Amino acid sequence: SIQSVKAREILDSRGNPTIEVEVWTNEGMFSAKVPSGASTGIHEAYELRDGDKSRYFGFGVLKAVCNVNNLISPILKGMRVDNQKAIDDKMIELDGTKNKSKLGANAIVGVSMAVARAAASIKGIPLYRYISELAGNSNIRLPVPCFNVINGGKHAGNRLPFQEFMLVPHGAPNFKEALRYGSEVYHSLKEIIKERYGIDATNVGDEGGFAPSLSSPDEALTLLVDAINHSGYEGVIKIAVDSAASEFWNPKDSQSYDLDFKNTSSSHSINSLNNGEQLLSKYVEILKKYPIAFFEDPFGEDDWENHSKITAEIGMKIQIIGDDLLCTNPERIKKAIAEKTVNSLLLKINQIGTLTETIEAAKLAKDAGWGCLVSHRSGETDDHFIADLVVGLGTGEIKSGAPCRFERLAKYNRLMKIEEELEKAHRANGNLFEFAGDDFYHF
Ligand code: PGA
Ligand code: ZN
Repeated sequence: SIQSVKAREILDSRGNPTIEVEVWTNEGMFSAKVPSGASTGIHEAYELRDGDKSRYFGFGVLKAVCNVNNLISPILKGMRVDNQKAIDDKMIELDGTKNKSKLGANAIVGVSMAVARAAASIKGIPLYRYISELAGNSNIRLPVPCFNVINGGKHAGNRLPFQEFMLVPHGAPNFKEALRYGSEVYHSLKEIIKERYGIDATNVGDEGGFAPSLSSPDEALTLLVDAINHSGYEGVIKIAVDSAASEFWNPKDSQSYDLDFKNTSSSHSINSLNNGEQLLSKYVEILKKYPIAFFEDPFGEDDWENHSKITAEIGMKIQIIGDDLLCTNPERIKKAIAEKTVNSLLLKINQIGTLTETIEAAKLAKDAGWGCLVSHRSGETDDHFIADLVVGLGTGEIKSGAPCRFERLAKYNRLMKIEEELEKAHRANGNLFEFAGDDFYHF
């Protein structure tokens, strides 16, 4: 049972403060580190920051640290770590707000993750197996990784409006090979960018992808196709786009999308402004021209109408994934299922704040026949919790940035280790497991 819970302030991959939590039990100490987004959805659970401008420009997390040490620790003392739901419920009750703004979702989620790690270890099973038990999932499988190799939007200092351009090696035979394919294309892409845009275009953005000075999605997509073909992976690797469209959507005029939103030097041209219909045609054009696996957040976080339109028009062919639209929030997911707003869920633990609610969200998606993409945040740590999460839930797809930068690779490397472990168990006792491959999307 839990003796105490302790937190401390550490720094994430962007150099901003975040939280590390330690759960102390009779059997030892188990820890977790909390990620943090940049293009966060307004419907996400609340990330508590100090606002004290004299420290870290107000981004400190000492209040959240205090909440773990002084408020959460005493109420969890004596509880069994293998009762995840009771522990998560207790923190939700103590918080008492709808968006976890009293204790901070960053405080709560760190405890929730560390508790799961403690329970798995005390039971003597790997974390992914424990999560599969919590979720009641018997289909343990390795995911298709989605590598974000060109960064735009809020994650990069270029004019590219869409935030992420990903490689999806769905045709690889296993995870290890999928990682190799991704890495090889990543390096070919670097050479191509260097040739066409010069050496200073090969610097990387927040998620390890290149951030060349492109301004149109077509330029980025062409680069990816060329790099895939150059590496000999035509037909094996698809492309995915996370527009993170809330960043260039004007909620006051819900039909207005400004594709030149990062251009501060001139007045925005009429060409850069799109209504929902024009943006939808742009996506349909892209789908016709390029081998697309999915679009994520193609429209703004409360633009239910245009999401429904794109899903009706092309959702039978590809995944339309809701990130800021859904915020891993079971209530919003239920609405989107009922209204056929999208056909897939982006799953981020810190968007909702507890492991129990994250599992509930994933189950809703599964029961609706949706895809479910497990995701890191743009601000990350060396914690690889989500690698075990995606295997345990068996959703078949994960995005953790480029195959570059250690906070991204921590997850991919952990997945290689899990695959090796499962292969060994398969050889020893015939336990079957699979690589999601082409099955990762259900259309
Ligand atoms: P974020 O971006 O972590 O900055 O929110 C990731 C995403 O939009 O998927
Ligand atoms: Zn997103």
